[in-house]
Amino acid sequence: MAKTKTAFFCQNCGTQYAKWVGQCSACKEWNTVVEEVVQKEDKSGWKTVSNTSKKIAKPLRIQEISTEKELRLNVHDLEFNRVLGGGLVPGSLVLIGGEPGIGKSTLLLQIALKLPYKTLYVSGEESQKQIKMRADRIHPNSESCFILTETKTQNIFQQIEAIEPDIVVIDSIQTLHSDYIESAAGSISQIRECTSELIKFAKETNTPVILIGHITKDGSIAGPKILEHMVDTVLQFEGDRNYVYRILRALKNRFGSTAELGIYEMQGNGLREVNNPSEILISKNDDRLSGTAIASTVEGMRPLLIEIQALVSTAVYGTPQRSATGYNAKRLNMLLAVLEKRAGFKLGAKDVFLNITGGISVDDPAIDLAVIAAILSSNADIPIEKGVCFAAEVGLAGEIRPVQRVEQRILEAEKLGFDSIYVSKRNKIGLKNTKIEVHLVSKIEDVVSGLFG
Ligand code: TYD
Ligand code: MG
Repeated sequence: MAKTKTAFFCQNCGTQYAKWVGQCSACKEWNTVVEEVVQKEDKSGWKTVSNTSKKIAKPLRIQEISTEKELRLNVHDLEFNRVLGGGLVPGSLVLIGGEPGIGKSTLLLQIALKLPYKTLYVSGEESQKQIKMRADRIHPNSESCFILTETKTQNIFQQIEAIEPDIVVIDSIQTLHSDYIESAAGSISQIRECTSELIKFAKETNTPVILIGHITKDGSIAGPKILEHMVDTVLQFEGDRNYVYRILRALKNRFGSTAELGIYEMQGNGLREVNNPSEILISKNDDRLSGTAIASTVEGMRPLLIEIQALVSTAVYGTPQRSATGYNAKRLNMLLAVLEKRAGFKLGAKDVFLNITGGISVDDPAIDLAVIAAILSSNADIPIEKGVCFAAEVGLAGEIRPVQRVEQRILEAEKLGFDSIYVSKRNKIGLKNTKIEVHLVSKIEDVVSGLFG
């Protein structure tokens, strides 16, 4: 019997050490190095094909490489297709991460059920009955989806050989274990081994594999960074569990841009694709309320109109409170200082609360002007007229700064029936035949006089 071999792995980044160290020299994390059992043998879980096809790659002149459009599998979900860059590439490995309970299993089960191809959904987390109950709610009559509850990769490959699926979904990579490694499921060496077996399988059979991965407290995909290096595409499913909206983004994509974004709404019968996100993020309230302003933002490549709410009130305690949900609190403080110093508004003794509706969070600096408008509207208790929106950054000198993709933002606002939009004077706008009125402003005062007369 072979001697048991052990090695030390950093649980954060996967670096291997011969002996224990307190700090990982690669990622500088403390106390992350753990001893794991490794059994190095020259076998692999997916070996049937690999032994016969020992192809050696030859270098080709760049002109000789064919650029025929790669065939992609349509996953029958507009948002998912878009984030992947136009469908699943055969033989690719896609990793999707997200917090527990956010809806990863729901999303992939739903996709597996809708696909017209033969799909194998492997779950190491739920029983077949549980999955069936969920499937009945989402999409009751699917004919080509197989469910397998199994965690050992060798057994999974056996079933794959029997069924020959077109797509394989693994829920989740942390529950898999391979016989060739002795450490526990979820450990670095297991995750690495199982993923590389799956990669081998995917590349040799040209079958796309989608992996679900858990994420750690600080938001990175649990197990290792190495997992992200090994796969072709890394997607992140995010959102606030208390709200219904979920955002799917690509963090890495070897076959497409990472700027695309998919938006879903969690409903009783699964996730609904949201093809026109602006409509749902803006409340359809006809009453004009003070303290709300609409910003035209761009998330990824998609223009999106969001509603910003502010509440300004006299501070009860000595130190005024400032809090922001969905927006950077430091940036809020900066904008308040700009309002105080450059525009003469006395907000120093006021509590200011800011909220972006829908539970989404936005980094786009182009919403600054809408934030300021919402604060001023609440402070004066005068509602902003209906049909007005904003797209500009505000600088430290109180100047209104230009933003990128301004034309896209204007067109989105027009499409949604807005009458006017405030943008920076320094933005070059080449739009013709637009019905929406574009206010070009350079100072906060211009906005104040435009809004409140
Ligand atoms: P799940 O897919 O199990 O999350 P994950 O795999 O990311 O841990 O999603 C669980 C949540 O989704 C759960 O709290 C219930 C909710 N849900 C719905 O609201 N509607 C549905 O149709 C389904 C299937 C789940
Ligand atoms: Mg799950």
